[in-house]
Order: sequence, then C-alpha cells, then structure tokens
Amino acid sequence: MGTLPPFSRRRALPARKRAAPPAAGLLDELLSRRIIFVAGKGGTGKTTVAAALCLLGAKHGKEVLGIEVEPKGDLSAALGSNGAGFKPEVVQPGVSVLALHAEESFQEYLRLYFKVPRLARLTPLSRVFDFIATAVPGPRDMLVTGKIAFEERRRDEDRRPAWDLIVVDCSASGHILAQLRAARSMLELVRGGLIRSQIEWIDGVISDSRRTTAVLTSLPEEMPVVETIELQRDLARQRTVNVGLCVLNRMPPEPLPGPARKVLADLATADAEVRAKVPGVAHIGADLELGERLYRAAEAQSRHLRAEMSVPVVDVPLMAHRPGLATSRAVAAALRDGNGAGT
Ligand SMILES: Nc1ncnc2c1ncn2[C@@H]1O[C@H](COP(=O)(O)OP(=O)(O)O)[C@@H](O)[C@H]1O
Ligand SMILES: [Mg+2]
Repeated sequence: MGTLPPFSRRRALPARKRAAPPAAGLLDELLSRRIIFVAGKGGTGKTTVAAALCLLGAKHGKEVLGIEVEPKGDLSAALGSNGAGFKPEVVQPGVSVLALHAEESFQEYLRLYFKVPRLARLTPLSRVFDFIATAVPGPRDMLVTGKIAFEERRRDEDRRPAWDLIVVDCSASGHILAQLRAARSMLELVRGGLIRSQIEWIDGVISDSRRTTAVLTSLPEEMPVVETIELQRDLARQRTVNVGLCVLNRMPPEPLPGPARKVLADLATADAEVRAKVPGVAHIGADLELGERLYRAAEAQSRHLRAEMSVPVVDVPLMAHRPGLATSRAVAAALRDGNGAGT
C-alpha cells in the first residue's frame, strides 16, 4: 500500500480541543475487533470510511477482508480496483474485497450449512428454498450476516483465521437494521435442529461486542445528524451490534479570523488592475463570509451530534482529493492522526 500521505491541510486545533483523547487509542481499539460494520445514511461516506479502515488494518499488519453489501457498492473502487466478485480478490497489499450478492450468497449458504448438493438446488426442492429466500424477509437478510460470520470463522490449512479483520460496507441505514436483526428474527421462527444452531451461532458472532462493532458515518448537516442519532438509538434498542465510533465526515475547514478575512478581501480588491484581470475577485469578501457561515452551521450540527452520541465522534475534514483510492487514503490519514478526536 505504501505509506499514507501526510495530512496537514487542517490548521492546528485550539488547545481546548487538542486535549481530547488521542484518536490512535480509539483506532487501535477499533481495529482490534474482528468485524467492523460501517453504517449510515447514503452519501455520508460509508464506503470511503470502510476503505480507509481496510487500509489502516493492513497497515497494522492485518489480513483484511472488505465486504460490499450494496449491489452497487463501490468499495473496490474506493480501494483502487475495478469491481469485486463473490470470491475475495486482493485489491491492495493485505486487503481483499468481496461483493456480497444475495443470490450467490444463498447458494453457498445452502451448500455449506445444509449440505444441499448443487443438483438438488436445481430441482423442485429449490422452490422451497426460493420460497424461504424470497417470501420471508428474514432469511434473505440473514444471508448477509451468515456469510460475514462464515468469513469470520474461515481458517487456513494451518488453522489460522483467514482474515484478521473484516470491514463491512453496509447498506443504507434502514436496511442494515433488518439485516443485523435477521438472525434474531429467525430464531423466533425456527424451534430446533441444525438450522437453529447455525442461526444462533451467526447471531452470537454478530452481537459479540468483543468481536464485532459498528462505526456510524454522518455529515455535519441536519438530516444526516438526525438519522445518525436515530440509528444509534435503533441499534441500541435491537441490541445486535455495539456502536464503537462515529465519524463526522466532510467537516468544512475552519475559517480565518474576521480581521484576516478583511485584510485578504481588501488586498484582493484594492488594485484596479487585479480587479480587471481576475473576474469575480470583488466577491472574495462575500465568499470568505460564506465559508465562515457554512463552518458555523456545520459546527452547530457537530455539537448536536456530539451531545447525543454515546460514543466518541471523530471529525474527518472535507477533502479536495479525487474520489477513489486518493480520498480513501486521505480519510485513513485523518482517522489515524485524529485531528478532531473524541468527545
Ligand atoms: N472527507 C471527504 N472529503 C471529500 N469527499 C469525500 C469525503 N468522504 C467521502 N467523499 C466522497 O463523497 C462521495 C460519497 O462518499 P461514499 O463513501 O461513497 O458514501 P456512501 O458510501 O455513504 O454513499 C464519494 O464520491 C467520496 O469519494
Ligand atoms: Mg457506498
């Protein structure tokens, strides 16, 4: 992977904020889990943060598997590769990715757990499984956690775990709750036997807070903040996965102090020649004011989020990098350096 680029665009924080707990400790703690679910509203940076955690895990010497749950997940793109299949593929040193498409997942699930041979899966018996898979929402959702739990248990020939860390780029907020709860719901339907013990095992892996944790991604905007608070509450209520960290992504840069903005604006507009050459330079004062207002609005959302979250909130600044590996690396560096660490 090479070294992560240094991240220095953000100005040093005031002493009050720097006294917050170092993010390195938070990160070590997070990466010591076996499974990290990255969940949140669409567009808040789930895929990017999942990719960043994959890179950080590999940097810690771990063999990492990234799992893409959404059909159009772009985790492999965020890790500099073009498209993942159902079989894990190496995308970066120490990082593999697999795309979890429910159909293939279901086939493997039948083969591994219920020892249903391929032929049988094509006969009318398969209609029964089709029914299970399509008619009842629980089992299909459970395939997601089933496959993740299976990968957690996968061993090499020498009995070592195949993956030290599994990072799951989850579906958008609403659906992930159903997926995480699926095994629990199935337990209410299945009374005994092999299927029950498999489901119990899957639920056990997912809800074991020593092994599994969730990272919630949010943006410093009203709706994403409200949804993040709701997601934390819903996850706590359903008691499947413990939330370990919240990432407040795309924080705008801190504005310059007022007097500095004025000096800049005056400098830029004092000279008639400059005004003639640089279209729009006359607006620089207004642009700097706008930057200040956007930052204050983001800060208010950040305060709201921090007041309601029961886990540390780490800021990740808005980056100017290209989408893809460059942004993932920059976000990894921001998480590692923890410029906005902890509340
Ligand atoms: N901190 C950031 N700064 C700038 N762009 C970002 C940042 N985090 C994510 N992005 C970009 O925002 C877009 C949405 O992020 P993504 O990780 O795909 O969100 P999600 O998976 O939650 O839908 C992507 O183009 C991504 O490259
Ligand atoms: Mg995504």
